[in-house]
Amino acid sequence: MTHLTCGPELGVCYYPEQWPEEKWAEDAARMVALGLTWVRIAEFAWAKIEPKPGQFDWAWLDRAVETLGSAGLKVILCTPTAAPPKWLVDLFPEILPVAEDGTVRKFGARRHYCFSSLRYREEAARITGEVARRYGKHPHVRAWQTDNEYGDHDTIHSYSHSAEAAFRLWLESRYGTIEALNAAWGTSFWSMTYQGFDQIELPNNLVEEPSPTHRVDFMRFSSDQVKSFNKAQVEIIRALSPGRPVTHNYMNQNTDFDHYAVGEDLDAASWDVYPLGGLVHGRLSDADKARYLRVGDPDQTSFNHDLYRAVGRGRLWVMEQQPGPVNWAANNPAPADGMVRLWTWLAYAHGCELMSYFRWRQAPFAQEQFHAALLHPDSTADQAYHEVAQVVTETSALPAIGPRAKTRVALLLDYSSRWATVTLPQGQNYRAHHIALDWYSAVRRLGVDLDVIGQHSDLAGYDLILAPDLVIVDPTFIERLQAVGTKVLFGPRSGSKTEAMQTPANLAPGELARFLDMKVTRVESLPDYHAESVQMGNLTLTARRWRETIETREQVLATFIGDYRNGTPALIGNNSARYLATLPEPEALRAIMTDTLNWAGVPHMPDLGDLRLTRRNGLTFAFNYGVATAEVPAPATAIFHIGTRLLEPAGVAVWSE
Ligand code: GAL
Repeated sequence: MTHLTCGPELGVCYYPEQWPEEKWAEDAARMVALGLTWVRIAEFAWAKIEPKPGQFDWAWLDRAVETLGSAGLKVILCTPTAAPPKWLVDLFPEILPVAEDGTVRKFGARRHYCFSSLRYREEAARITGEVARRYGKHPHVRAWQTDNEYGDHDTIHSYSHSAEAAFRLWLESRYGTIEALNAAWGTSFWSMTYQGFDQIELPNNLVEEPSPTHRVDFMRFSSDQVKSFNKAQVEIIRALSPGRPVTHNYMNQNTDFDHYAVGEDLDAASWDVYPLGGLVHGRLSDADKARYLRVGDPDQTSFNHDLYRAVGRGRLWVMEQQPGPVNWAANNPAPADGMVRLWTWLAYAHGCELMSYFRWRQAPFAQEQFHAALLHPDSTADQAYHEVAQVVTETSALPAIGPRAKTRVALLLDYSSRWATVTLPQGQNYRAHHIALDWYSAVRRLGVDLDVIGQHSDLAGYDLILAPDLVIVDPTFIERLQAVGTKVLFGPRSGSKTEAMQTPANLAPGELARFLDMKVTRVESLPDYHAESVQMGNLTLTARRWRETIETREQVLATFIGDYRNGTPALIGNNSARYLATLPEPEALRAIMTDTLNWAGVPHMPDLGDLRLTRRNGLTFAFNYGVATAEVPAPATAIFHIGTRLLEPAGVAVWSE
């Protein structure tokens, strides 16, 4: 699918096992009539496929695949490992995950397995092999999804005996000797010294917090467990189903495992887009949440598209797209009419190849009864159905374009660094994923496109790299950054911990002192009710939550003003790097980003407010998240393919220049 396209290929999530068989053919025909070409099935179907140990009932799934495929749909088949059946749990209770408080998480919902259970790994490989053998070469099966949403319901970290045993082995291979572990974990503190790897326990249910190195190592270990669990499935599928791409459906805002590492073993990355739940649980103030109640955070969805485009090494799919109100967030408002269409074009603008809506028909039973779909439970069309039809019509109005090209600005997201700040937040309101999104948003409001990258990514070709929370720096990243010479803006806490979660010998920013002659001599975390003032040229800016005291011989670009350490540096820099010592409020951050883009020679626009622009290969897409009609900043010569210069709320316009 790397050919030219005029829009995303469209699909839907379908659960034949939840509907009477008489409905399947009619459903399939309606999907095709709507313009859908893909259907994802069977991620929770293990109990139907194998109702008793070793007894398989393939007949229904054979007929479902045949019915959907012969109607003209390409099937994405899933491995059913996110929901092991009751008999399996009863046979092998040790496969269940253990919560942080030590209680066993029981059967009765889903994701009730521990990644470290060797028994579960065997069972997962067995059922993957069975499904892949039966359907691997089936002409209607055209792609695969492994499992479902690793990390959903807080399931990456399990505190089971299996996890403990596997963690000990992992530590032994990481450190070699117990002395090396004792040194890295700083166990001379509080008499924590270990004599052997077999003494080590998991970092839960302690009287006080564990050594941060202990905890970060447990997070690294848990992430590696996800990678190897996923990889085992991918290898089985590749062997039995050649030529079909394999993906996994990631989530918004779950950084409990390293998405890039899991992505290395996949052909494409997909993710599940639920912008309104994302808003409710997201970074914005209550006033902004109220403003964006039915449209979502204007930047959170794009951020994830850009992240997963990197995770998929250019290949981005949406496996589940919110179609209406959902059931699982703290509150579940409806999207404004038009938003399903907007989210579809947004995904495409950010490089998405395939957009699949969740789900075909709303379920009248079980946990997600309140979750909307393309159809109501009585099979009449809901709002999203009409919006999908509109997208299909609009697709024919667009010129064909290729995969999204690299941008000039990249934002760095590093998982080890995330785990470092989760482990040692230092302030309860320091949230790295909010900070990264604030930085991203500030630049997006200036009309600039971004890539999200990891430390491993190819750095060539960027004019500017933004590193909002790069706490742990990989030595090869430093070398590659020096080699390409890209300008970079580092945020507070950058380089502040070594790989072993210790303070660098030369103080923060540790190895980044190669770019900047500076050191951080004090950090403060600050309560939300306190504001710091920062003077940058003739602008007085507001910052909150975090402040560092810096000693530097670099140029001071902005200073803290006020009664505490008046005049100390807030933003410093030289020709190749800058360092920001605080967390500016959105408007202040926009001013700093404007200055940073100018420094890097990246063209930008004045603040777009509630409009967002995304460019993809000669096309500009505009999205209106506001409540008023807005005029898009298209040149006089623009040729509009979708929409017009005046963009209504929740509207989309697309033009070429
Ligand atoms: C996703 C999940 C789906 C469904 C959906 C509801 O997290 O993958 O199975 O539960 O949420 O929004």
